[in-house]
Amino acid sequence: MHLRPFRPDDLQTLYEIDQACFVPVISYTREELTGFIGHRHSQTWVAEENAEIAGFLIAHREPRKILHIVTIDVLKAWRRGGVGSLLMEAAEQWARDHDMRMIGLEVAHDNLSAQKFYAARGYRKVNEIEHYYADGSTAWAMVKELP
Ligand SMILES: CC(C)(COP(=O)(O)OP(=O)(O)OC[C@H]1O[C@@H](n2cnc3c(N)ncnc32)[C@H](O)[C@@H]1OP(=O)(O)O)[C@@H](O)C(=O)NCCC(=O)NCCS
Repeated sequence: MHLRPFRPDDLQTLYEIDQACFVPVISYTREELTGFIGHRHSQTWVAEENAEIAGFLIAHREPRKILHIVTIDVLKAWRRGGVGSLLMEAAEQWARDHDMRMIGLEVAHDNLSAQKFYAARGYRKVNEIEHYYADGSTAWAMVKELP
């Protein structure tokens, strides 16, 4: 498994992975994904093995030295094999290299596996955001301060 930067011809595959990873109120449209990935303050890492994309992560640099994880998606068949950790390590290293002070993200209230994944990496819940998703459901904001 290795990481590489996004290439424009990845878009359809990343869209399909995002659709497979999230219910429709959370998954992004193609236009949203294109906008996030193409933003000048964004970074996208693609995890690939033998030319098969297993997952990806989009992060966005916010003001006040915060890196925001827009999404991290690992295909079901590849989960619990360290792909998510590889992607998060890349984002966290980028954040440290760019003098960020914190990484933040939102995770659905009922997404316990992702909450465990983040907690295992040192993220803590700081705030419950009601009506965060289009169906009115709640998200947790989680953060990790960087040394
Ligand atoms: C969350 C996600 C990115 C994790 O990716 P992954 O490749 O499975 O993660 P890793 O294999 O690197 O897991 C690292 C550690 O996180 C924890 N973890 C990961 N998935 C877990 C689960 N389902 N239940 C409990 N702990 C879990 C474990 O401590 C794991 O270490 P271990 O396997 O040695 O026990 C993946 O499950 C995913 O894409 N889910 C769907 C999309 C999603 O929910 N994204 C996050 C939205 S905010």
